[in-house]
Amino acid sequence: MNELVKLMRSEDVAVITIDNPPVNALSPGVPEGLLAAIQSAAADAAVKSVVVIGAGSTFIAGADIREFGKMVSGERPRISLLPLLLAIEDSPKPVVMAIHGQALGGGLEVAMAGHYRVIAPRAQVGQPEVKLGIIPGAGGTQRLPRLAGVAKAVEMCAFGEPISAPEALALGIADRIIEADLLGGAVAFAREVANRPASKTRERQEKLAGFDPSVFAAARDTAQKTRRGQKAPLAAIDAVEASPKLSFEEGCRVEARLFNECLYSNQSRALIHAFFGERTVNKIPDIPKNTPLREIRRAAVVGAGTMGGGIAMNYANAGIPVIVKEVSQEALDRGLSTIRKNYANSVAKGRFSQAVMDERMALITPQLTYDGFEEADIIVEAVFEGMGLKKQVFREIDLVAKPSCILASNTSSLDIDEIASATRRPESVIGHHFFSPANVMRLLEVVRGKATAREAIATSMALAKRLKKVAVLAGNCRGFIGNRMLGPYFREAQFLIEEGATVEAVNQTLYDFGWAMGPLAVSDLAGLDVGWRIRKEFKHLEKPGVRVPLVADRLCELGRFGQKTGRGFSLYDENRRPLADPETAALIEQVARQAGIERRAVQAEEIVDRCLFALVNEGARLLGEGIALRAVDIDIVYLNGYGFPAWRGGPMFYADTVGLEKVLGRVREFEARHGSDLWSPAPLLEQLASDGNTFAGYDKQMAVD
Ligand code: CAA
Ligand code: NAI
Repeated sequence: MNELVKLMRSEDVAVITIDNPPVNALSPGVPEGLLAAIQSAAADAAVKSVVVIGAGSTFIAGADIREFGKMVSGERPRISLLPLLLAIEDSPKPVVMAIHGQALGGGLEVAMAGHYRVIAPRAQVGQPEVKLGIIPGAGGTQRLPRLAGVAKAVEMCAFGEPISAPEALALGIADRIIEADLLGGAVAFAREVANRPASKTRERQEKLAGFDPSVFAAARDTAQKTRRGQKAPLAAIDAVEASPKLSFEEGCRVEARLFNECLYSNQSRALIHAFFGERTVNKIPDIPKNTPLREIRRAAVVGAGTMGGGIAMNYANAGIPVIVKEVSQEALDRGLSTIRKNYANSVAKGRFSQAVMDERMALITPQLTYDGFEEADIIVEAVFEGMGLKKQVFREIDLVAKPSCILASNTSSLDIDEIASATRRPESVIGHHFFSPANVMRLLEVVRGKATAREAIATSMALAKRLKKVAVLAGNCRGFIGNRMLGPYFREAQFLIEEGATVEAVNQTLYDFGWAMGPLAVSDLAGLDVGWRIRKEFKHLEKPGVRVPLVADRLCELGRFGQKTGRGFSLYDENRRPLADPETAALIEQVARQAGIERRAVQAEEIVDRCLFALVNEGARLLGEGIALRAVDIDIVYLNGYGFPAWRGGPMFYADTVGLEKVLGRVREFEARHGSDLWSPAPLLEQLASDGNTFAGYDKQMAVD
């Protein structure tokens, strides 16, 4: 039909193959080819039934996501799949969809327009559009309830999680699982049904009745809690809700209106940016795809504290045996008991079985010596944060590790080059900065030292995928990407309370912006003493005359370390709920008075701009220094490690949506008010703003194929 869709005949069965690598997305040419093939099969008297199948590893992964941006910008007209799907459904000869890999989004919509679906046992189907800030746009919200029932359709369309082949079969989305030879099985099935009257999904009514009418309210409630701020899940629920009330055609019109509202929103742009961003971060300019990788079969972790335990779990979860080494039996027992508790929690919640937990526990070997470290392909150090100790540990592991072993440090801020200098193989030393809780958070900052070998970097990036992490490469500087940017963000949050904003206003305003938690609440959770200790260590680096936040240190002097002591910026009740603390408010006023800071009313807009633009300005500085490769790398760090709202696309994307000229204007205002030491604009921000450019434009110049 064209080079993307091929039509062949297996005696009386027409076989249409979609061949658009890598994932058979419905790019321009595919719908046209499919329509032509269906029409041609219909016109061929020798054909009794039709099979549609995907070439390669998947059926159809959905619309071509790259096209959405072009539609929004007007570069390409918006083409609806609806007419094609009606043509498939109206085919006089039964159409059997043969699904392997994934049938997602538009892929499932195509599949549902067929008269039957057969499926490979490991295939998945789903409507994941909400993850891109949109909803199904080709009748998915109307056909899915007719096949799977209204309640399941609400869940699948609103939350986007795919389901397995057995579940699809049980729900009625699939008609048969084909264990081996999908094509052969599909052709045989097509012959079986060739002379049966085929029903059209859109005409089916039986599953549109009898559902619990509270499903919509319950789903909205869940969406508001788990997808706070996002419009698409609510739109998806509205669209599915139309299915039992309206005719198919009217329901599709409701869906089309909601789809358009979502598509032409910053939220979908942001989430699509994040989708491609997660894939872009793997592309590193001087590390070609064919860089040799070191094989990782066995791992070892030094330290079984908060981070070491979580890191060990990641390896065990990926089926990689891991030794965990501690200094005392007590610390080892504590670490292992936390791991066991975490796994038992997952079993209790039904995430996996006791047998899986037992398998994972069996992969973890706790011990007090370096025995067996010589067999490890990677050793991850996760001991206390302190250069002396880190260097001592690296000297020790350098002595026991085999030559090909990667030596990784989980330091959150220390100099990787100095750590590497304690070994005879700085080329094998690298930062693996996990985020707490390490068994949950998706982000891994991979930190490149000046001597780190390309192979060690490429291996780390590939390993991250096995550990189900999103890895972002960072250059070596204090705090790397994420924590370095956090410095100015936290600084401004504290300055704002000294100037007159309440703790509650700062936390609430940034929570309302979409962050998972306000910055002062995060500090209370992490423990104010952590920063206090670091500040004391680096006191000598403070510049005389440059303002520093004062309140956190005063709270620590009073023994108020945050949640762990029941008091920090806020007061915590027994359920760890924060309450306004009048004593802290009085302390803040007193500190401000003593420092001669003028107190005034602070508006929400200022809270957002001061905190966010401090973050963005530091991000631009990092980019200019080459610590982050692209602006999107920074966004991916913030979306996956710091609770930045996904639907705002990350701090740099957010800055683009505000407009860099405006961002720069505000930065200059703050510079005039608070001084150049704190607020001098990053040179890259100045340059991009004066060129009328964006961070996205900057990334385009840095693109790697
Ligand atoms: N459109 C365009 N490109 C796509 C794509 C899509 N739907 N799905 C994947 N790709 C690209 C990726 O960007 C990647 O490209 P690069 O190699 O250049 O980075 C390549 O295909 C391979 O993708 P992955 O690295 O993600 O491969 P994987 O094997 O890990 O995962 C997948 C495969 C599960 C299909 C995953 O890619 C995925 O979830 N894709 C998105 C699915 C989706 O959201 N579909 C709905 C689209 S919206 C829609 O369909 C609405 C509508 O019709 C109206
Ligand atoms: P922690 O205090 O919970 O655990 C450190 C563990 O290391 C302790 O159990 C200690 O007994 C053990 N240890 C000390 N010396 C050892 C040695 N020579 N051999 C074996 N074990 C030894 O500390 P945490 O929070 O796990 O931090 C570890 C590292 O991870 C630090 O570098 C920290 O900066 C970094 N990090 C911490 C994060 C966090 O949120 N806690 C986040 C990201 C990184």
